[in-house]
Amino acid sequence: MSTENTSGQEQEKQATPMSTAKVFENGPVRLIGPCEVQLPDGTTVIKPNGISFCRCGASSNMPFCDASHKTNGFQSK
Ligand code: FES
Repeated sequence: MSTENTSGQEQEKQATPMSTAKVFENGPVRLIGPCEVQLPDGTTVIKPNGISFCRCGASSNMPFCDASHKTNGFQSK
């Protein structure tokens, strides 16, 4: 993508880095890399090293994964 600066010259605009979400079979969805999570109560949590979100519904720390999926027999298919 290119943009024009104040002197009329075109310059390359740095593309916004994409986040990567990894879906684990029989497990959570993990956002890889730094991210900001906006929770339903209006708070924001910064996760500098990424975070896993529960898909099994059994976490006691929703919406985050607490590894309960490892013992509750969760099947993603
Ligand atoms: S997916 Fe890990 S606790 Fe639900």
